[in-house]
Amino acid sequence: MKLSDRIALVTGGGSGIGRAICLTFAEEGARVVVNDIRLEAAEATVKEMSDPARGRAIQADVADSAQVRAMFATIERELGGLDILVNNAGIALGADEHREALRRKFETRIMETVSAQGIQTHLDVTENLSDEAWRRMIAVHLDGTFFCTREALRLMSRQNRGAIINLSSVAALDRHQPMKSPPFGDSHCPVKNEPSSDARNSAVAATSRGSPERPRGVRERAAARISGDIG
Ligand SMILES: NC(=O)c1ccc[n+]([C@@H]2O[C@H](COP(=O)([O-])OP(=O)(O)OC[C@H]3O[C@@H](n4cnc5c(N)ncnc54)[C@H](O)[C@@H]3O)[C@@H](O)[C@H]2O)c1
Repeated sequence: MKLSDRIALVTGGGSGIGRAICLTFAEEGARVVVNDIRLEAAEATVKEMSDPARGRAIQADVADSAQVRAMFATIERELGGLDILVNNAGIALGADEHREALRRKFETRIMETVSAQGIQTHLDVTENLSDEAWRRMIAVHLDGTFFCTREALRLMSRQNRGAIINLSSVAALDRHQPMKSPPFGDSHCPVKNEPSSDARNSAVAATSRGSPERPRGVRERAAARISGDIG
């Protein structure tokens, strides 16, 4: 097993990619803290583990620094440290009804794309995004990644070891394709993709601790490289 007795925290582990990461980490021998803003979803992930004793569900909104601090205090108290943080928690655009309207437009657009009539339906995501939805997206993707990374570094720097994985989106890598959402991509961009990003700088600063050598183990755009490799 690759992660024997490692302690991992996966944010947004209550569904989708985060849940799959939690289950894989647990299979590989890690003890996994499954965070989600929805407690029942986090608990369902723990129940799905072949050995649920490997999991611990903690409800916290990653966009709220006090809740993030409390979550890390629980991890320190109960598990004694942290080896891996996966900043996975994320949200799609706006409220449910806006998402539904967007989905309908998206489907219409696909039909227009394959028909001879040409594209007449436009998504207009940026034009229709409210202040509130934009701020929430920035709060979850940008603040949330920072708040969790800050607390994780405090624990990891004690052992001078750790791994922090930030999930991003192809929408943040290539925002020039019309089917992609510019606000979603932009909110994923600052921490996750820019070469001078906070994620990279945090990693370089942390790995330079105790060693004057060039930091090792700082990998950017891993997914982009993987998708490049597999074409
Ligand atoms: N699935 C895709 O196609 C896709 C594409 C691009 C990027 N991403 C990114 O990958 C990550 C996972 O995506 P997914 O498709 O599995 O999403 P998902 O919606 O299935 O899961 C996200 C989880 O995060 C939780 N969450 C939301 N806000 C939170 C908060 N403030 N604090 C704690 N938990 C919170 C949700 O409750 C949910 O369980 C996200 O960061 C997303 O932006 C996914």
